[in-house]
Amino acid sequence: MKIKFSVYLALLGQSSAWSYTPSSKYAANIKINAHQTYQTMIGGGCSGAFGVACQQFGSSGLSPDNQQRVTQILFDENIGGLSIVRNDIGSSPGTTILPTCPATPQGKFNYVWDGSDNCQFNLTKTALKYNPELYVYADAWSAPGCMKTVGTENLGGQICGVRGTNCDHDWRQAYADYLVQYVRFYKEEGIDISLLGAWNEPDFNPFTYESMLSDGYQAKDFLEVLYPTLKKAFPKVDVSCCDATGARQERNILYELQQAGGEKYFDIATWHNYQSNPERPFNSGGKPNIQTEWADGTGPWNSTWDYSGQLADTSGYTHWWCVQDTTGDNALIRLRGNNYEVSSRLWAFAQYFRFARPGSVRVDATSDVENVYVTAYVNKNGTVAIPVINAAHFPYDLTINLEGIKKRKLSEYLTDNTHNVTLQSRYKISGSSLKVTVEPRAMKTFWLE
Ligand SMILES: *[C@@H]1O[C@H](CO)[C@@H](O)[C@H](O)[C@H]1NC(C)=O
Ligand SMILES: *[C@@H]1O[C@H](CO)[C@@H](O)[C@H](O)[C@H]1NC(C)=O
Ligand SMILES: *[C@@H]1O[C@H](CO)[C@@H](O)[C@H](O)[C@H]1NC(C)=O
Ligand SMILES: *[C@@H]1O[C@H](CO)[C@@H](O)[C@H](O)[C@H]1NC(C)=O
Repeated sequence: MKIKFSVYLALLGQSSAWSYTPSSKYAANIKINAHQTYQTMIGGGCSGAFGVACQQFGSSGLSPDNQQRVTQILFDENIGGLSIVRNDIGSSPGTTILPTCPATPQGKFNYVWDGSDNCQFNLTKTALKYNPELYVYADAWSAPGCMKTVGTENLGGQICGVRGTNCDHDWRQAYADYLVQYVRFYKEEGIDISLLGAWNEPDFNPFTYESMLSDGYQAKDFLEVLYPTLKKAFPKVDVSCCDATGARQERNILYELQQAGGEKYFDIATWHNYQSNPERPFNSGGKPNIQTEWADGTGPWNSTWDYSGQLADTSGYTHWWCVQDTTGDNALIRLRGNNYEVSSRLWAFAQYFRFARPGSVRVDATSDVENVYVTAYVNKNGTVAIPVINAAHFPYDLTINLEGIKKRKLSEYLTDNTHNVTLQSRYKISGSSLKVTVEPRAMKTFWLE
């Protein structure tokens, strides 16, 4: 009784766009069981690849103060809560650390660090200021052209030396050394790369930009060279495989990699959410997976809540661009000169990742109705996050059963059309069950500490 009262008080205190019926007849039972644990979380993130980070750092008129502000909105633990940055290890002229390639793999490699990395260095450094535990994913879209069957960084092709190729030289070791050199340049600047990848969408040839193809067998042929090379130089850096265009496509590559005996040559399965959804667990041999790229990409920019979107069962969820001067729907924050607009999609990310911090463990959570989605996470210090999505057009009364959870101080954070992770109420609870309400077409995180 006391609990309900506090909730209604909080709701009465705000102006709302919907007509809210306190005695709503829709109810759902949620069960949280902290004894049943699943994956460990790495977090949410985004990318500044292909020069888009330059827009975040002033190339289209954003002032230095706003450069700081948008980066803080994304990565501050108390705002956007993101913790992953995905950088492109550029292979195009003007962005590559290997501007001239030797004629053979035995030749001299003159690597060049320009201190900018197409503005991704500034993005990484500034994000680290707001999130000192930033997880940096360095991912190549292609090997330098000279190391490939097609002789250029675009047009797909494969790395020379993997099965199915017929080049004059085997460039696999050279490509591995080149990738490790990128990690070394960041290390020399005091930044640790967390994860290193050799491909982007190797099941797709876009022709017009950096790309390189690979099936799972060919991935084995390269990863068996990269893996020991990287671990010798940087034992703590993980190796990814393989950023396929969809979950189904990633599963094919992982399956073939295993058939070829290459399962031991990667640490984290990485996949994009374009072509297909996960639908069932990954065949990654018990290794974690991260969704490393997704954006709406089709429509015009729309920052409104409840427009489109999805989240999947995974250790991380990385959006495509972070901040972009655009009319399209590809970024979490949109720029127009020195103005910026934050999309509601970032607040949906924050409803998860501000509360399920890196290192938290997902625990069992079920809902007995189809239009209420629930997950739950226990942080390293025992605090608990329960993000709930109400997909219905009416409010839901929830009874949440808490098994294996001792924390009894509850805060409720709401995102909908008029709220951005807004603290709604904070109160003490007793017993092992919780009675709360979720607004229509809204997302609410229940935070227990
Ligand atoms: C990096 O970002 C800072 C802060 O926004 C800005 O002042 C500086 O000019 C940027 N540096 C480069 C090389 O883009
Ligand atoms: C954005 O999406 C909302 C919700 O679907 C819609 O009402 C609105 O008209 C859209 N705005 C633009 C500019 O497309
Ligand atoms: C526990 O960890 C969470 C997530 O990092 C943090 O927000 C919270 O302040 C911590 N609480 C305590 C009591 O240390
Ligand atoms: C969140 O919403 C509040 C109230 O509308 C607004 O004042 C604040 O600027 C918003 N926060 C961000 C980071 O956009």
